[in-house]
Amino acid sequence: MARDGRVLGEGFHHRAGEAHAEVNALAAAGDARGATLYVSLEPCKHVGQTPPCTQAVRAAGVRRVVIGTRDPTKHGGGAKELREHGIAVEITGDAPARELIEVFAHTIESDRAYVALKMAMSLDGYVASRPGVAEWITCEEERLFVRELRIAYDAVMVGAGTVRVDDPQLTVRPPAQRLREFQRIVVCERESVPLDRRIFAPASGYARTIVLAPAGARARFRELERIAEVVYVGTQEQELDLAHGLRMLRDRGIYSVLCEGGPTLAGRLVSLGLVDRFYWAIAPLLLRSEGAVPVLAGVELNGSPRRLHLDRVERVGTDVILRGRFVDV
Ligand SMILES: NC(=O)c1ccc[n+]([C@@H]2O[C@H](COP(=O)([O-])OP(=O)(O)OC[C@H]3O[C@@H](n4cnc5c(N)ncnc54)[C@H](OP(=O)(O)O)[C@@H]3O)[C@@H](O)[C@H]2O)c1
Ligand SMILES: [Zn+2]
Repeated sequence: MARDGRVLGEGFHHRAGEAHAEVNALAAAGDARGATLYVSLEPCKHVGQTPPCTQAVRAAGVRRVVIGTRDPTKHGGGAKELREHGIAVEITGDAPARELIEVFAHTIESDRAYVALKMAMSLDGYVASRPGVAEWITCEEERLFVRELRIAYDAVMVGAGTVRVDDPQLTVRPPAQRLREFQRIVVCERESVPLDRRIFAPASGYARTIVLAPAGARARFRELERIAEVVYVGTQEQELDLAHGLRMLRDRGIYSVLCEGGPTLAGRLVSLGLVDRFYWAIAPLLLRSEGAVPVLAGVELNGSPRRLHLDRVERVGTDVILRGRFVDV
């Protein structure tokens, strides 16, 4: 909320059932007559768990509303209503605003968890100089960047190979400021993973680690059931149906996951069309040797290159991070 180049007040939507961002910003501003309201999402015009924001905006005498993105739900139309009441409305539709509501928009349209894929690779496209080794690819700043990135997702997910080789903890920073416990997920197929891995260590603020495993391989995961929450996918299958697994995650209230590899799981997700967003770190490093591990395994494009949508390029320490959407452009 601003007037004459000065910020009058700010607000955000704290949790479901409580006042929307607009109402909080209006309260913080006090007198909002003639002001411009900047909102990431089109103000609602329906009576949900709270009264409509369009009404509050009109009553406060706001003159102009700048909206990041339209409301993707059936409750849209707030912009039109404001215009009909003489308020100037601008819809920017820019990438940062879209990124903010991407998970929400996906949740309305799809029955599976939203997937962002975060990978780090050398300049020549590898993650390790040979299989089974953990390579130090990214800089310290990039690792901090990822810890913060995780906060925006309901869960972080890795493949069994990464847990065996890297033994990551996958913690978030800061862990205490969340409304819900943070979830960590390991995706397995043929084999279980060692019980002593750090991802299974109990920690305050973290839920019991989830392991996705094919239902046909149940016998091999019995031991893991003692320390993890093993979610069996399917009925008799020996292979893991990833799409089904992502639907089961969503049914458990995990609406978004940040997948941090490794190359086998990432390649499978890409091949199956299950990736919605990417964060790709590139480090000024060359790794290629005989048997080096490429960043994506098993993605076969059959001569049809795919071009993705790039939203932003950031320099983080000595690395570069590309972020964008996994849609064909
Ligand atoms: N640079 C990076 O961004 C990054 C990130 C993570 C890891 N890494 C590196 O990657 C290497 C490990 O690579 P990885 O490819 O073995 O790791 P991975 O992708 O984490 O794990 C592969 C395993 O995932 C399981 N899996 C689950 N669902 C699957 C499916 N639908 N299809 C195929 N496999 C499925 C299989 O487990 P089962 O064995 O149980 O069948 C498979 O062996 C290490 O060197 C690690 O350091 C790099
Ligand atoms: Zn509202």
